[in-house]
Amino acid sequence: MIEKSNDSYIKDIEKYLKDSLIETKKALTIDELEKIYYQYLGRKGKITYILRSLSSLPKDKRPLVGEKANEASKRIEEIINEKKNSLKKKVVEKILKEEIDITLPGRQLQLGKLHLITKTINEIIDIFIGMGYTVVEGPEVESDYYNFEALNIPPDHPARTLQDTLFITEKMPLRTHTSPVQIRFMEKHKPPLYIISPGRVFRRDNIDPTHSSMFTQIEGLVVDRSISMSHLKATLQVFAEKVFGEGTKVRLLPSYFPYTEPSAEVLVQCQECMGKGCSVCKKTGWIEILGSGMVHPHVLENVGIDSEKFTGFAFGMGVERIAMLKYKINDMRLFFENDIRFLKQF
Ligand code: DAH
Repeated sequence: MIEKSNDSYIKDIEKYLKDSLIETKKALTIDELEKIYYQYLGRKGKITYILRSLSSLPKDKRPLVGEKANEASKRIEEIINEKKNSLKKKVVEKILKEEIDITLPGRQLQLGKLHLITKTINEIIDIFIGMGYTVVEGPEVESDYYNFEALNIPPDHPARTLQDTLFITEKMPLRTHTSPVQIRFMEKHKPPLYIISPGRVFRRDNIDPTHSSMFTQIEGLVVDRSISMSHLKATLQVFAEKVFGEGTKVRLLPSYFPYTEPSAEVLVQCQECMGKGCSVCKKTGWIEILGSGMVHPHVLENVGIDSEKFTGFAFGMGVERIAMLKYKINDMRLFFENDIRFLKQF
């Protein structure tokens, strides 16, 4: 501590006392008074500080400084309490004179809630946890190897153009799908594997009612002995019924993904017309919700899993798409615009 003369301590105390009196007089609310109290008498208050420093003063000076500081502390507390009481009295007077209407309902607190996408992710996670899956996550900035190559998509493969990509550096794309998490997980864990992985993905897409350069996917992966396409279909059937309601029909159509063989697009009955055919489902009665298939043997071999012993299925779904179907939302941009009038409906 810097050496200070006795006098300078006493001057400080007098100044603090004077200042606090002026501030207390000016205070209009209990809150302000509390602040003044803490400024001078709180744990790090100015007077408290002096009281704490007494021991560093020469012995013969301590009694006087101590006495003055204690007096000031008492006085400040007194005037703050007096002012508090007078403020409280004024409020009571106003109530009595009916200047304040205490029968008015209080202001309602605005409670926050989860974003519809978060809510949908949580709902889907719950369904898969119920079936014994574990949730894992992966990075949004991914290496070319995990995003493409390990998934059986070599550099010049035309499938890369299906996912026109944003790059951080030449070999570092923002992930275009959650599928790289499959590879990351299989590298570190041995089958049996039952995982899902939610997260954001990025594409060089123009933004319109059904496209966005950033959206959310949930990846699923199962690798075990004797896994077949029927396990995939049954799993997705359970999933669809839990999300959209009992009896929801699911249909698999042949498709192509480099990392699955065979591959299938999965469609659910249109939730708008319940399969009759309308403008939402382009009169087909069905809407695609995800891509899926049996994990390609190359992918298993890439991570050192014996594809003679183990087989697996995988799928990747768009969370926005599912929320749009379920809650009848016709424009994907609504999820990202943060208009509270939209968000608070769910
Ligand atoms: N990654 C695909 C996409 O973003 C979706 C997908 C298809 C994921 C098939 C899979 C799969 O795991 O097996 O469009």
